[in-house]
Amino acid sequence: MNQLQYDAIIIGGGAAGLSLALRLAENARIAVITKGPLQEGATLYAQGGISVVFDAQDSIESHIDDTQRAGAGLCDPEVVRYTVEHGREAIDWLVACGVSFTRETRADGSSDFHLTREGGHSHRRVLHAADATGRAVENSLISQLKHHANIDILENHLVIDLITNNTVDPDKKRCLGCYVFDKTNDRVITLASRFTVLATGGAGKVYLYTSNPDVSTGDGIAMAWRAGCRVANMEFVQFHPTCLYHPKAKSFLITEALRGEGAQLKLPDGSRFMERYHAQMELAPRDVVARAIDHEMKRLGIDCVYLDISHQTPEFIKEHFPTVYSTCLEYGIDITQEPIPVVPAAHYTCGGVMADIQGRTDISNLYAIGETAFTGLHGANRMASNSLLECLVFAKAASHDIAERFQEFPMPESLPLWDESRVIESDEEVVVAHDWDELRRVMWDYVGIVRTDRRLRRAMSRIQILAHEVDDYYAHFEVSNDLLELRNLVLVAELIVRSALSRKESRGLHYTLDYPEQQTGTPQNTVLTP
Ligand code: FAD
Ligand code: SIN
Repeated sequence: MNQLQYDAIIIGGGAAGLSLALRLAENARIAVITKGPLQEGATLYAQGGISVVFDAQDSIESHIDDTQRAGAGLCDPEVVRYTVEHGREAIDWLVACGVSFTRETRADGSSDFHLTREGGHSHRRVLHAADATGRAVENSLISQLKHHANIDILENHLVIDLITNNTVDPDKKRCLGCYVFDKTNDRVITLASRFTVLATGGAGKVYLYTSNPDVSTGDGIAMAWRAGCRVANMEFVQFHPTCLYHPKAKSFLITEALRGEGAQLKLPDGSRFMERYHAQMELAPRDVVARAIDHEMKRLGIDCVYLDISHQTPEFIKEHFPTVYSTCLEYGIDITQEPIPVVPAAHYTCGGVMADIQGRTDISNLYAIGETAFTGLHGANRMASNSLLECLVFAKAASHDIAERFQEFPMPESLPLWDESRVIESDEEVVVAHDWDELRRVMWDYVGIVRTDRRLRRAMSRIQILAHEVDDYYAHFEVSNDLLELRNLVLVAELIVRSALSRKESRGLHYTLDYPEQQTGTPQNTVLTP
């Protein structure tokens, strides 16, 4: 069967995609497409939790203020308020789906959610399931999904590109479906849909060192751009301050909640250093902590710094951080007794496909939600644990909008099939492997935590060569997983560097030695138009 039809195609099986699928499936035929196993995505690895106002001492206004302070003047106030105000409802829904958040027993014997702290938050407001919140969310949503006869799950299917109608009038452009590489059967299928939703996550893999899983290659951003959507604020790539530094550990995060529970950052001689950078010390916003670590590593020529929570009791550590404890132990580090070697790594893509408060993009019937979207929530720096919240809140908003519009749009018919008549099987996959490595190294070396125009221009010239090479390869050879991801990564890298070059100031996550100050006046988003 070469052409399937759905009311809605949801590309992505993380918190954003799955919650949207569950909310839409009562009255519609849905496909959830994931390029790897259904579980695999950033959501599965989320540790710290979900920020929501629960504590009596906390308030919606305080959560809004903290989010905006972290966002360094670029958050959209309406979007921030909308997201924060819908937080409790999102948690109630998750609990109804079976997510079991960590609770604590109070002195009077009553029990309530345990709230932890993370950087930038002025109150305890992070709900969590020990230190594996994302796993709890993902698994609960997947078990709900499997009860739905209306949902087809297409795992190991990589969406290559969106299909739009043939019009030069941008106002009449509509998304009609997508081309999908079925990796198991090594063929490309065509899917038609009334609505298509990008819930494809972030683009951390564009950097050599990242906390992100392998699937985070910015595919949604690249596909939307090729189809004609604007993207915004791509220069704001968040580096998480503390990933495990160990030759055998690939992308293992040491949650910020450790610092929320008192863990201290130290140099190899055991001295603390954060007092030289921010009054909130280890709980300063993430950009400040990552830059401080980067600065100390470069100043002293050291490979890592250390995060020490060993002053807490072993019982406390094992109860609150079972995943971090057991994973570090596998690498020979007993965190109840010794500090953890840590380094910053690319973690979160604040920019993305421009989407409104319902998730609508520039193209009719195409939505973007979750990390792949730019909604205006995060501004120049996302505050910890606001991302899962955004996934849940915008999935709900998009579900209402889509459900109301089903009748307006007929099912697209007879889409053009994928044309492979001019390509042959590749005989030099080495090019793809080489370009993957080169791109990620270039981005790490020249487009990292501290930037200069010169480094950015150097990166751009390398990226343009890679883009040319990849286009040529794509035009001549059959598609493969690695080629398709590389094609997207190169494009996303170019969008990041173009955005970074156009910002002539340091703000939030974008820090440049050429313009170390924040510009005065009304700050602007960096909007790129295809
Ligand atoms: P993801 O969960 O990343 O899912 C993306 C999906 O898209 C996957 O199913 C993937 O297969 C699919 N996909 C991508 N491209 C294609 C394609 N071309 N074709 C088909 N399918 C495709 N945020 C918090 O708020 N709190 C935390 O505690 C927290 N901890 C984190 C810890 C780690 C280690 C990481 C990496 C991130 C963390 N974040 C946290 C960020 C948060 O987890 C992510 O932003 C969020 O989970 C993104 O969800 P998503 O649904 O948008 O995408
Ligand atoms: C963490 O647990 O440190 C990650 C939280 C986040 O990225 O929001």
